Amino acid sequence: MILLVNGPNLNLLGEREPEIYGRTTLREIEEMVRQACAGWSVGVTAFQSNHEGQLIDFIHEHRKSARGIVINPGGFTHTSVALHDCIKAVGLPAIEVHLSNVHAREEFRRSSVVAPACRGQIAGLGPRGYLLAAEWLCAETARPVSLVKEAPLRARKRAGRRR
Ligand code: DQA
Repeated sequence: MILLVNGPNLNLLGEREPEIYGRTTLREIEEMVRQACAGWSVGVTAFQSNHEGQLIDFIHEHRKSARGIVINPGGFTHTSVALHDCIKAVGLPAIEVHLSNVHAREEFRRSSVVAPACRGQIAGLGPRGYLLAAEWLCAETARPVSLVKEAPLRARKRAGRRR
């Protein structure tokens, strides 16, 4: 299972500054990511909050069952040492995603406090950025099918829990 985490104001996607963020809603993005991951037999647990602590609590809560995190921290990207620390603390591979090209916008958007805790960053590719990040995580954390099939029952159960 991978976590799909979205920060402040992303609940308003579709109506929020559509000339920058497009018309796709967060629900539609979540559904696209679910479908892409289903092709890898990987589940998706999605969460959005406008509150920093709730994002952190959510990641903590799922740290043992998730294989990675796709995160758009929204405005917290540029400020949140706590989210940076959270990603480091749980030790899961994380990809930071931005719909817009933050590097081509205002100066204050060009630096991310969260990105150094992540494996990589995708910015400016719209909703497809989430898909690419999710597929990378699926591919990177995939276990060879033959191993899953031939492993003893206990290992198979363990593997099943992490899907
Ligand atoms: C954003 C970019 C951030 O600078 C901004 O605060 C957002 C959205 C993006 O997806 O492009 O809320 O993360």
